[in-house]
Amino acid sequence: MKNILVAGGAGYIGSHTVIELINAGYNPIIVDNLSNSKEESIKRVEGIVNKSLTFYKADVLDKDAMRKIFTTHSIDAVINFAGFKAVGESCQKPIEYYHNNIGGLIALVEVMREFNCKNLVFSSSATVYGDPESVPIKEDAKLSTTNPYGSTKLFIEYILKDICKADSSWNVAILRYFNPVGAHESGLIGEDPNGIPNNLCPYITKVAVGKLECLNIFGNDYDTKDGTGVRDFIHVVDLSKGHVLAVNKILENSGLVIVNLGTGTGYSVLEMVNTFSKVLGKEIPYKFAPRRPGDIGTCYADTTKAQEVLGFKATKTLEDMCRDALNFQLKNPNGYN
Ligand code: NAD
Ligand code: UD1
Repeated sequence: MKNILVAGGAGYIGSHTVIELINAGYNPIIVDNLSNSKEESIKRVEGIVNKSLTFYKADVLDKDAMRKIFTTHSIDAVINFAGFKAVGESCQKPIEYYHNNIGGLIALVEVMREFNCKNLVFSSSATVYGDPESVPIKEDAKLSTTNPYGSTKLFIEYILKDICKADSSWNVAILRYFNPVGAHESGLIGEDPNGIPNNLCPYITKVAVGKLECLNIFGNDYDTKDGTGVRDFIHVVDLSKGHVLAVNKILENSGLVIVNLGTGTGYSVLEMVNTFSKVLGKEIPYKFAPRRPGDIGTCYADTTKAQEVLGFKATKTLEDMCRDALNFQLKNPNGYN
């Protein structure tokens, strides 16, 4: 059985991916410093897959701790979810973001090279497309960023491209996620952000259960079907399955692979709110507010390459995403606490 080191595996996308790796016959070795997650998520995953998991509380920046893990286990591939991800916070704390995200990636690839493990899947983001010139967005679109978080993703992409250019024995899959939402259908694991959520879906679920009063919809004057922003929301379980396909791919000596992970369909913020209202069975209160600085109008993926290269196709609907997100919120009113 192949050992896959999952850095950041206690987090939102990582915990769902651990389940899909097990379903696909891989053995995940989880590493997380729990800076933005709780060990409880791993316990929940153990309940879902009905087996105990290997977990190390460690920081990817701690090369000695990582070396110990690579010495204990023969690692076939690494998926790196570990990183900070809040756009607003990255503008306040750029040093921390560059240190953790870029420093963490460099420490990780250094240890990987020492142990001759050169197979890596990296979590990038559609944020590297900046304000896209056209949609759907293809992987060869122009890249740019507007905030330090996005810059960490773009710089890491450059670093990984250079690594692959210099040494053809590396196999790297750069996955550009669009907007991951939803939760595992069990309702046991899901997104559990600290404090008041910045992102749309976790904010709506908190309004749905009365923990927040009203959703502010940032802008109703975009050039879109109903004036609100349009995004490519993708169910986190679909996204996680994309990681298994990416691991399969790099283990075939693929070299560098860069793909979008989205559904290819753009839904508006209002469509998302209405779908939540439908699955909840009552109206989600909302009001229109000014545009959020830094936001773009429309963003959705061209999914042709993901399908051709990985055989990836998202199957879950917007209703699945809303129902599963709500289910997690209802079953866990205080998140993992
Ligand atoms: P998350 O915060 O839930 O998970 C990241 C995990 O990494 C957390 O458990 C955190 O404790 C851990 N971590 C952070 N720094 C670490 C370090 N130095 N050493 C060890 N562990 C560390 O975030 P997520 O939503 O699961 O996102 C996973 C990855 O995907 C991130 O890199 C994020 O930037 C990227 N991404 C996320 C989204 C999204 O909307 N969720 C979109 C695009 C890209
Ligand atoms: C944000 C990040 C992006 C990151 C992505 C995934 C910004 C500017 N961008 O994308 O870099 O990769 O999350 O984590 O933060 N909205 C509301 N009301 C709210 C919250 C959001 O109307 O309370 C709207 C936004 O204006 C946007 C849409 O909902 O039109 C989606 O917002 P969000 O969930 O924050 O994701 P993005 O901004 O697309």
